[in-house]
Amino acid sequence: MNYFIHTYGCQMNVHDSEKIAGILEDLGYVSFTDVKDADIVVFNTCCIRETSEKKIYGHIGQLKKLKKVKKDMIIVVCGCMSQQDGVPAKIRESFPYVDVILGTSNLAELKDAILQAKRKRKYTNTNFCIYQEEDFNQLRTSYPNAWVNINYGCNNFCTYCIVPYVRGRERSRQMDDIVKEVEQLVENGYKEITLLGQNVNSYGKDLGGGENFANLLHRLGKIPGKFRLRFMTSHPKDLSEDVIDAVAQYPNICNNIHLPVQSGSTEILRRMNRHYTREKYLECIEMIKSKLPDVGITTDIMIGFPGETEKDFLDTLDLVQKAQYSSAFCFVYSRRKGTPADLMPDQIPEDVKKDRITRLIATQNKVTREISKQMTGNVYEVLVEGTNPKFEGVVCGRTESGRLVNFKGDASLIGQFVNVKIEKSASATLWGVITTEEK
Ligand code: 5AD
Ligand code: SF4
Repeated sequence: MNYFIHTYGCQMNVHDSEKIAGILEDLGYVSFTDVKDADIVVFNTCCIRETSEKKIYGHIGQLKKLKKVKKDMIIVVCGCMSQQDGVPAKIRESFPYVDVILGTSNLAELKDAILQAKRKRKYTNTNFCIYQEEDFNQLRTSYPNAWVNINYGCNNFCTYCIVPYVRGRERSRQMDDIVKEVEQLVENGYKEITLLGQNVNSYGKDLGGGENFANLLHRLGKIPGKFRLRFMTSHPKDLSEDVIDAVAQYPNICNNIHLPVQSGSTEILRRMNRHYTREKYLECIEMIKSKLPDVGITTDIMIGFPGETEKDFLDTLDLVQKAQYSSAFCFVYSRRKGTPADLMPDQIPEDVKKDRITRLIATQNKVTREISKQMTGNVYEVLVEGTNPKFEGVVCGRTESGRLVNFKGDASLIGQFVNVKIEKSASATLWGVITTEEK
């Protein structure tokens, strides 16, 4: 009996899929690469933008024919999309062959739901419940990297964002549990651990014992052994100097900060409910750069928020040039039902959005190319993550600052730290050679 998991969206979902895989393997299923032969197909969904939703509905639709032939196949839809109001009913109506629908906090029921489905009983539960997700046996699939949740949910209610509605309020894991999990991972040979939370900087606020994210970094930074620690996502309104000081203090914590800006216009930021101005954000960038030389700062930027004028957009382009991000995820604003921005006047026409996203990407590409050029000739320590699927005999890995580097090597290097001299760059991707030269 085998399973196939479709994972959509962010790292949080990628990690949730490792928990889903753990549950399925406990039930005796094994992973399989071809969906056509799977006994269980899981859709671990995302609803952050309309494009993700459309794609997922398309993929669920494609299973209709297959399920007619393979009547015992069990189809599960879970994750953020199924947590949205009205979506379970819509799935039941449009895709009656789906067996199980679970919300973002109902993974603990997956085992029972599958046992029910085997008896041809449909199972739906998207009622929100707070539970210890980390109790699951996780099937980690991304050695030498590993994900560790530190907090769940979000309290920020940015006006465009669906996440607080589908992931619920902020809940932090106990610090001792996180430290234990990271220690165990290091002991088991994992070399890069990424702490995950919708807003890692507010870690601990709900625990009530004075715990905070900087304290957590101090505990994790002291764990012995050669490994790297990263974290995402930081919210500019909550990122404190203490956190950056901790990153600077411990060699294991990477000089790499993901700091979504969303817009370079103070007025748009106000309407997005982001709680910072353009100036405050740029001060934050300066603070980071002054304390962390060689830092790689990445961001998320959105264009086409309701009421965004050409002037607002030019402020965003200007900020992109000033901030000098090593890379940026650029998004077109997408209306999400139930969010305040969906009801705002002056929604931006598609052609204007298209024009702005093209200009934004071109501006960031130029910045990335420039930074890549500056890195050429330098030596960086790279953790080898895998073989490059496009080029035979080439492996890839990341610098501490988070840049992807390709170089000659084989699978035996995976999980090792090597020094690589950068020889050339193709915009975002760097190419280099292993060297005995020191950094
Ligand atoms: N439309 C477009 N992008 C969005 N994001 C969040 N909500 C939306 C939306 N409605 C982007 C933000 C966030 C990233 C994870 O997704 O930039 O940081
Ligand atoms: Fe969404 Fe804002 Fe929360 Fe990020 S901080 S998940 S953008 S509401």
